[in-house]
Amino acid sequence: MGESLRVEIERILPGGVGLAHAQGKTVFVSLAAPGDELRVQVEREQGNVLFASVVEVLTPSPVRVEPPCPYFGRCGGCDFQQLTYEAQLAAKAEIISDCLQRIARLDHVPAITVHPSPNEWRYRVRATWQIDQETREIGYYERGSRRVCDVEYCAVLMPELQQTLEQVRATAWSEFPPELKHLDAVAGENNVSLSPSFANFETNELSLRVGNESYQYNAESFFQINPALLPELLEFALTGASGETALDLYCGVGLFTLPLSRRFANVTGVEANPVATRFARRNLQQADFKNARVVTATVAGWMRANSQTTGGVDFVLLDPPRAGAESIVIKGILELRPLRISYVSCDPATLGRDLKKLIAGGYEIQAIAGFDLFPQTHHVETVVLLRRNSSN
Ligand SMILES: C[S@@+](CC[C@H](N)C(=O)[O-])C[C@H]1O[C@@H](n2cnc3c(N)ncnc32)[C@H](O)[C@@H]1O
Repeated sequence: MGESLRVEIERILPGGVGLAHAQGKTVFVSLAAPGDELRVQVEREQGNVLFASVVEVLTPSPVRVEPPCPYFGRCGGCDFQQLTYEAQLAAKAEIISDCLQRIARLDHVPAITVHPSPNEWRYRVRATWQIDQETREIGYYERGSRRVCDVEYCAVLMPELQQTLEQVRATAWSEFPPELKHLDAVAGENNVSLSPSFANFETNELSLRVGNESYQYNAESFFQINPALLPELLEFALTGASGETALDLYCGVGLFTLPLSRRFANVTGVEANPVATRFARRNLQQADFKNARVVTATVAGWMRANSQTTGGVDFVLLDPPRAGAESIVIKGILELRPLRISYVSCDPATLGRDLKKLIAGGYEIQAIAGFDLFPQTHHVETVVLLRRNSSN
């Protein structure tokens, strides 16, 4: 048992933890609300930082609510259910600002709006379910551990996916491949796709309309979790985008490649996953875009191979995974000297790191917005529009 402390939560930090101070130390408290007075228990200490969990809410914050999910606290999935939705959005705006200030070292951080999700619950079209065949549990990892939290009902899954979770759970254990440890599931307009396929579950090909475009994909390729907010995100990310040549780096099945193909004479998408590039090419073909091509390669590898041959580029959109863009990718973008860059990020910390380099390389921020693709969690999608300095 660690030490017990009485603390007041000052604000929410990147990573979703509450910040407090006690005994001259910084205290990070999980599942807290700003303004809470709490009795917490220290779980571990690292230098001057204590990591703690809530034992008792002494005086609840005005933005604290009762988390509706019975797995809250144990399941590692949703760590913001204790906050009103408005407080979740405010915390996410602060998380983005914090990363821009501390990591990107912006002198002046503009006020940040986080666009709300049309649905606060039942929004997820994609999930990974963990499976422990020894304990016969199916669900998500528990907080801070690799133990599986057995979940019968997940309040953020869209109904079709919840139904599939129930069907998977109802399947006889003898039908599960012995080595199966997790399942990727994704829903489309008319069906659900699972990877790997087993028993009666297939890796079906799905389709979904977003804005003016139609996309096909399956559970082996990436698709954004919360499609209801995508039209707004696409519109913002492509603000003022038009010209001769555009690049779509980390393009997946072509979410941005298709609308870019309406706006630019030549578009190149680069993506490492061959399943995703197969769908991206098909999506372009079905929309009859002949001005775009999709390359199966890592973005770093493609940059290395093409740095001498890629001519003038007007616009670069990049949407990397959480780790952000590799140094060589940022270097390659700076060498291409596009007029505009649109950076779509699911991790404000790595975004801050990469923005610092882009700004040092001659770009200035035109606009920033957050999009709440992940309600009930501390995760947030950020889009930053950059323009080459006129002196550069
Ligand atoms: C955040 S997703 C974005 C996909 C797409 N832009 C979308 O919005 O649907 C990141 C994508 O990068 C791909 N990826 C991950 N590492 C990569 C790399 N080193 N080079 C190229 N693609 C990569 C993943 O397969 C995934 O499709």
